[in-house]
Amino acid sequence: MPETTPTGLTRLAFGGDYNPEQWPETVWHEDVRLMREAGVTMVSVGIFSWALLEPSPGKYDFGWLDRLLDLLHENGIRADLGTPTVVPPVWFYREHPEALPVAADGTRYEFGSRGAICHSNTDYRAVAANITTKLAERYAGHPALAMWHVHNEYGVPVSACYCDSCAAHFRRWLAATYGTVDAVNEAWGTAFWGQRYTDFDQINPPRVAPTVGNPGQALDYKRFADATMRENFVAERDILHHLAPGVPVTTNFMTALSQCDSVDYWAWGREVDIVTNDHYLITDGRRTHVNLAMAADLTRSVAGGAPWLLLEHSTSGINWQPHNPAKAPGQMARNSLAHVARGSEGAMFFQWRQSRRGAEKFHSAMVPHAGTESRVWREVVELGASLDSLSTIRGTRTQADVAVLWDWHSWWAQNLAWRPSEDHDARERADAFYEALYDRHLTVDFAHPEADLSACPLVVVPALYSMTEAAGNNVREYVENGGTLVVSYFSGIVDEHDAVHEGPYPGALRDVLGLTVEEFSPLLPGESVRITGPDGSELTGDVWTEFVVPREAETVWTYADGPAAGHPAVTRHRLGEGSAWYVSTRLDAQGLDALLGWAADDAGVAPRVDLPRDVEVVRRVGESGTYLFAINHSSSDAKVPLEGPGTELLTGERAAGRLVVGAGAVRVVRLDG
Ligand code: GLA
Ligand code: ZN
Repeated sequence: MPETTPTGLTRLAFGGDYNPEQWPETVWHEDVRLMREAGVTMVSVGIFSWALLEPSPGKYDFGWLDRLLDLLHENGIRADLGTPTVVPPVWFYREHPEALPVAADGTRYEFGSRGAICHSNTDYRAVAANITTKLAERYAGHPALAMWHVHNEYGVPVSACYCDSCAAHFRRWLAATYGTVDAVNEAWGTAFWGQRYTDFDQINPPRVAPTVGNPGQALDYKRFADATMRENFVAERDILHHLAPGVPVTTNFMTALSQCDSVDYWAWGREVDIVTNDHYLITDGRRTHVNLAMAADLTRSVAGGAPWLLLEHSTSGINWQPHNPAKAPGQMARNSLAHVARGSEGAMFFQWRQSRRGAEKFHSAMVPHAGTESRVWREVVELGASLDSLSTIRGTRTQADVAVLWDWHSWWAQNLAWRPSEDHDARERADAFYEALYDRHLTVDFAHPEADLSACPLVVVPALYSMTEAAGNNVREYVENGGTLVVSYFSGIVDEHDAVHEGPYPGALRDVLGLTVEEFSPLLPGESVRITGPDGSELTGDVWTEFVVPREAETVWTYADGPAAGHPAVTRHRLGEGSAWYVSTRLDAQGLDALLGWAADDAGVAPRVDLPRDVEVVRRVGESGTYLFAINHSSSDAKVPLEGPGTELLTGERAAGRLVVGAGAVRVVRLDG
């Protein structure tokens, strides 16, 4: 069995992508000296090095990598060794131009960037297997080897290829999935618009067409593209497992929903030995630390609650957004430790030394252009020491309070064309509900809609347009057995083929919610509605309203105006031992807080009224103890009540009563006992 933590690593992972091929070897010695100064424990190497390792077909140059790995080992630094299969060398493309991927409009991408791969291409698969085999044969026993880093960020920049080999592969995938072409016709509803097929050979990828294509086809193509990338990952992983038994294999995910939307991480999480994630702060005006917390919680959930590893983030600014602010003093440590609080076994960066050339030269690094006489470097050294003081935390698990249901397949279905309103955005609702839970200081586990929910007192469904019947039964049983459920509108509408569940909406959730929805009536941009509660108080909604007909559910809030005036806006259904809440409009932050407050009362989830806004308190618990992380993202000092005395690990000081956490600071208390 492969290990589930980097082999030979006895401290938290701290380091970054190390691309020394950009520098003369004299610089390497300076690099490892600085790595030691900063307390670097592991670096990721070779991710983009195929052209150097195999400069022409079948001719290899491993000398430089031998010297590099030896140097790292001599300096006690572990290596996360890449298979460079995200960037085949140019010679490969000149021999096999058909391995370059094709866009939906027929454009064939050129060489000269990265990730230009048709994952169905058999020549690509053969050379990828070959270089992986060569690397595994050479380095399986290397003492620096801690884990394998397969490929890089599957799913970006190309999420699907629409070429002829992919068309053929798609047909094989459909045949294996459905058995008969009639089953495909049935699933996709090809009776509509006369799209019926009589042979698998007639089916193509959903290429650019005069108007909206078949939604079932589009959805299955996303599934196919995801499965095809996973096939290639599994092929490399199996070679590595075979030739380097015991060494864990990972590939870096991007679970932040804004950073990769084409990969079903529930499925990928089951295939890797260690879940690793890349996270970059998106500066869109919202609180970046909330997005970070959400991505970290989602990553941990994909790992099934087990520790995972932040494989990339940035020391300061990135360079691929329209505007890329530098991180404020202390923000890098805050970001790093926020990932650790939520289960990461360290903090790694892209990249070690800032490039002078190439596309990412303005992306920050651990060793910036400014050199070591810089704030970034001083903070890097400080972070290394902080992580060192947290070594005993390895293997402990983050404790969550509530669960949010999330499913990439539903998100894909939701994002298909021609919906009741383009202003309803599943991710926006997921973000908004997450933020409301964050502001109530609750730690979130994400769960697949068919997962066992019995341990969660409160389950939130922000936007689950597509739900299988099994998922519907799952949440119903959860409520019957005493759970509290909160569902937001346009959930449970279609099945896994984007076919509307039979009967009135919301087919998969009718029973558990105790209501039906007769019709949707989305609002126009700028419009909003008022809803009134039992005590006369008022909230506002926008984007969506609908005509809810309560059956067994009670009406809690009612539309005071708008198209659904007089209809229920918020309902509660007491079912079995539990209750199920439903909200049929888009609530703002205040509304969500109120709704979650009532539901939390039902669930017996106590509010953390003792914590100020933007002060994050998260616990990791395990054999080595209970660790309380207090992260102050605000600009004023805060006091965090401790349930008992302990030792603050970053300073070594004793802590008890109310822990003072300075503005922007982080404190980690290991509680006594
Ligand atoms: C991604 C990639 C890295 C680098 C960083 C920073 O996460 O994996 O190679 O490009 O983004 O932009
Ligand atoms: Zn292709």
